[in-house]
Amino acid sequence: MDTSQHLQKIIDKVGDLPAMPSTVAEVLRLTQDMSVGMDEVSAVIERDAALTAKILRISNSSYYGMRQNVGSLKLALVILGVREVRNIVLGISVFDTLHDDNADTLLAANLKEHSLLVAGLAKKLDSEMRLNFQGEDFIAGLLHDMGKMVLLNKLGEKYLNIVRVATYSNQDLCDLERDAFGFSHAEAAAALAAVWSLPASLADALRLHHYTPGESLEDAKNPKLAAVVRVANNAAHVACPGEEGPAPLTEETQMAIDEAWALLESAPAPLPEDNRDEIVASFAAEVSATGLDAF
Ligand SMILES: [Fe+2]
Ligand SMILES: [Fe+2]
Repeated sequence: MDTSQHLQKIIDKVGDLPAMPSTVAEVLRLTQDMSVGMDEVSAVIERDAALTAKILRISNSSYYGMRQNVGSLKLALVILGVREVRNIVLGISVFDTLHDDNADTLLAANLKEHSLLVAGLAKKLDSEMRLNFQGEDFIAGLLHDMGKMVLLNKLGEKYLNIVRVATYSNQDLCDLERDAFGFSHAEAAAALAAVWSLPASLADALRLHHYTPGESLEDAKNPKLAAVVRVANNAAHVACPGEEGPAPLTEETQMAIDEAWALLESAPAPLPEDNRDEIVASFAAEVSATGLDAF
């Protein structure tokens, strides 16, 4: 099956997707045009007051560790740069479109906390290993499980049952999803990213955040970004198993993590191999303690 057929199959299964918020489409379009200045970008974002407030909260959160208060969108654009702010806009808009704050399931509640933890961890790993991403770390971490959000919204109890079986029988969730639907939540997330014309490096990081048969991190448009999200996701599951219980560490998961670390050995400042698990666990504790109220 080629990629477009696979994509169509996923879309057929999950049904109509929510439309991308118009501000996001406009910000994406504007930031692709090199001749567009900060004034124009900030004018478009400022039309959405709730979005502007969230961008300022994130800019002032511990994720960014700013020494000065970022009091205006203009200042955020100057200090963080247009690309970083664009990625924050994309991340929070897509997350808000898909996440149901009123859902009464543990999975929905856990997903927000888990996604913010993975976003913060990815950002922390980026700065510690000096990978120099510009917000791609945060957005990919925040959206990595958006396939779960869509499956939960569309299939409800049917999907929850699959998550419960994976948790309590120590089976790989992606395998169970593939048996039930023909695709995993990671593949569904990548399909959504393609439908919404999100950057390919983001779609690849979402698709590869778990072990995927026949695929390697090297296939990603930005392999290090995909590796960071994979490591951050695993560390988040270990640090905060959530009320659904810990994620099973299958042999495939361990292989996937080893592959990610091997790829990150060529980072400008790689973590020391013999105690990187402890280091990442301490980062997870730090992010959980300070950064999960970003928006
Ligand atoms: Fe996942
Ligand atoms: Fe996850």
